[in-house]
Amino acid sequence: MSKITAAITGVAGYVPDYVLTNKELETMVDTNDEWILSRTGIKERRILKGEGKGTSHIAVPAVLDLLKKTNTKPEEVELLICATTTPDMVFPATANLITAEIGAVNAFGYDLQAACSGFLFALATASKFIESGQYKKVVVVGADKMSSIIDYTDRTTCIIFGDGGGAVMLEPNTDGYGIQDAVLKSDGSGAQYLHMKAGGSRKPATMDTILAREHYAYQEGQQVFKFAVRGMADVSAEVMERNNLKSEDIAWLVPHQANKRIIDATANRMGVGSEKVMLNIERYGNTTSGTIPLCLWEYENQLKKGDNIILAAFGGGFTWGAIYVKWAYDPK
Ligand code: UT7
Repeated sequence: MSKITAAITGVAGYVPDYVLTNKELETMVDTNDEWILSRTGIKERRILKGEGKGTSHIAVPAVLDLLKKTNTKPEEVELLICATTTPDMVFPATANLITAEIGAVNAFGYDLQAACSGFLFALATASKFIESGQYKKVVVVGADKMSSIIDYTDRTTCIIFGDGGGAVMLEPNTDGYGIQDAVLKSDGSGAQYLHMKAGGSRKPATMDTILAREHYAYQEGQQVFKFAVRGMADVSAEVMERNNLKSEDIAWLVPHQANKRIIDATANRMGVGSEKVMLNIERYGNTTSGTIPLCLWEYENQLKKGDNIILAAFGGGFTWGAIYVKWAYDPK
């Protein structure tokens, strides 16, 4: 019997309507458009507005569109993994809220948290369920409502993040298309540089934690930057080496969109020209688990069957990784 690989057979995305521009941020914190653009490459980001709206409200429209595009009935979905750092609630899992909302009555679901590398970790995990032959339709969602944990009085973090997400369908393939290899890493000693101080079991919410603004993302930007540049480039180079891929073999690099300078450093290390690098950081900023599926969604029409694609990410934890995908379909 031929080997089963997990092929991405469809992709969809969703970003909320509200556009938070650099100009508007200038009215909120001491910053300016020129600084943000030159240091990060970001011009604007999307924000999910509305009482009672969480990450599932980003994921659900993305998954519904995915089902439509792939002609899949909700009841055919067997498993849905949601990568997110901003779940609707601590429990139950956001994946459960999504499956209930879309009517995926036969699916089981769970969340996976690996900060900005969440989508890659979830994709690698999901691929194993397909490769084992156990499941035939698995949805992987990466979505975050980062605005729910961002301090809009802290100019060093609020300029970077935005809300959004995307989803892919994974199905078995016996012609060699799909996920070929994954290099995934984590190092908990990096937690000190990027974390949320309160709201977990170590420091539950109290009036004091709220007054101390400890329910927001805390980041030591320069430290994270240093590790991210090295980490993302290292794993991308490693996955290429392991699979005997030369720069000219790569059709696309799909990098996590945290900072244009980190993306450029990764592309340089891989020897990949800017015309092969997916970019939407200018319009969406860093949507954490959402960046990579959002890129795939926006560039889907340019992807061809057989394209060698490297997905790469770095995030809090620290977590980082690269996945080599052989794209499974031509533009529809
Ligand atoms: O996705 C998860 C992983 N996260 C990342 O990959 C983010 C990695 N880090 C970064 O992208 C960058 O470190 C930042 C974009 C967060 C910051 O850029 P930077 O070039 O590292 O700036 P910096 O922190 O070294 O600050 C340089 C200067 C400082 O002023 P002084 O001390 O030189 O006078 C900051 O106070 O820029 C100042 N600054 C700002 N100025 C205007 C910091 N934030 C701002 C701002 N507007 N928003």
